Amino acid sequence: MLDIVNVEYDTLIPNNVSLSQDKRVLKALERWHPGYINWWKGMGPEGFQESLVYLRTAVSVDPKGWAKFDYVKMPEYRWGVLLAPQVEDRRIPCGEHLGQPVWHEVPGEYRSMLRRLVVIQGDTEPASVEQQRHLGKTAPSLYDMRNLFQVNVEEGRHLWAMVYLLQKYFGADGREEADELLRRQSGSVESPRMLGAFNEATPDWLSFFMFTYFTDRDGKMQLESLAQSGFDPLSRTCRFMLTEEAHHMFVGETGVGRVIQRTCEAMKAAGIDDPYDIEKVRALGVIDLPTIQKKLNLHYTLSLDLFGSEISTNAANAFNAGIKGRYQEAKIEDDHQLHNATYPVMQLVDGVVVTTQVPALSAINMRLRDDYSRDAAGGVKRWNLAIEKSGIAFQMKLPHDGFHRQIGIFAQVPMTPDGIILTAGEWQKRKDEWLPTRADGDFIQSLMKPVWESGQYAGWIAPPKIGIDNKPGDFEYVQLHMA
Ligand SMILES: [Fe+2]
Ligand SMILES: [Fe+2]
Repeated sequence: MLDIVNVEYDTLIPNNVSLSQDKRVLKALERWHPGYINWWKGMGPEGFQESLVYLRTAVSVDPKGWAKFDYVKMPEYRWGVLLAPQVEDRRIPCGEHLGQPVWHEVPGEYRSMLRRLVVIQGDTEPASVEQQRHLGKTAPSLYDMRNLFQVNVEEGRHLWAMVYLLQKYFGADGREEADELLRRQSGSVESPRMLGAFNEATPDWLSFFMFTYFTDRDGKMQLESLAQSGFDPLSRTCRFMLTEEAHHMFVGETGVGRVIQRTCEAMKAAGIDDPYDIEKVRALGVIDLPTIQKKLNLHYTLSLDLFGSEISTNAANAFNAGIKGRYQEAKIEDDHQLHNATYPVMQLVDGVVVTTQVPALSAINMRLRDDYSRDAAGGVKRWNLAIEKSGIAFQMKLPHDGFHRQIGIFAQVPMTPDGIILTAGEWQKRKDEWLPTRADGDFIQSLMKPVWESGQYAGWIAPPKIGIDNKPGDFEYVQLHMA
């Protein structure tokens, strides 16, 4: 039995925040709902709104049994407002209010800071759905199509989560912000999404897997730091979002891993040892390893930019206020106020990269980014194990932090993935060695042919080791009803 005791399913919006007793917020959300559905139908997965998708829906916040699986038409998905259970006597974990009871209402002095954080987080959620809306048409299998749609509906739910906070705690301007979240659009010239990586196209499935591995992981780190917030409703919201987020990164890691695996298998079967014999490898209908590395370089660096400037007063203020903590704040052994602490940050001094100690409070972003890089390195290691096992001499690598950056200390500094600074001319000449070119993109695009029979997979990607919800290999994850 699932523990659904605390989740109301009788309201239009499933929730565990007693919406039926909170008429004002319930009304506000019901008013927002049609606009959301409009947005989903217009900007969500194109061509599959009538299909039955085998999706998990959050029905509880019990970590042991929070989801149930069933066939759902996506526009009928039960997007709900679910907060992780309240921790009794929770205290503010960092900053100048350290040890004081957490806030259950927005503290006036931090109102605009909090609103901005919620809006920025909220803006990324629908953005990724928009970026991925054309991918269903070229899905390499029904399994992958289902995973794409699962990620999409959950990003939709994350938008709901942020909109709930705006509607409940931020009055009229919260309402306005909630409307704006449906108005901005990924890649739009007039009203783009707020952050760079969320305005980039996701043109093919390798991009999608890289995005869920690297960019959703930035999301994870942001949620981890917001889960530390002294504003308890934000903390509880983010804690529950993290349980869903884990699947998104699973989709990314196993997706890239299956592409790599398939390439290695095909190379071996054809007797090709040289991973740089790109033409021969591509002729097998698989993506060569150097091109996968280029895609990694692109998505990793776009994601690094999402952490903002290494040295940041905003980040220091948010930490100091107890609004945003560090990754796993409670497990860090220090004063949680950073009075005298320093943190190493790379700087560019006279054209040379040097590491200097700066006040730790000013380097909160840098620390979170370092935690991110360590986290991201885990999957890369597992991909490399698979390559090694196949006997091909190639290793995937995270590029240097200064490579291909648009934000922070290394913005616009021409640099190789190994961290060697170049002249602008050298960069122009060599950048195609490290970042995907138009021709690389065209090649990948040429492989993006839909495979929609149950249990079948496109030739450029290996089948998964296990099915979703323990389903057998030929399970029909999506029952197509094309519009
Ligand atoms: Fe999300
Ligand atoms: Fe996500």
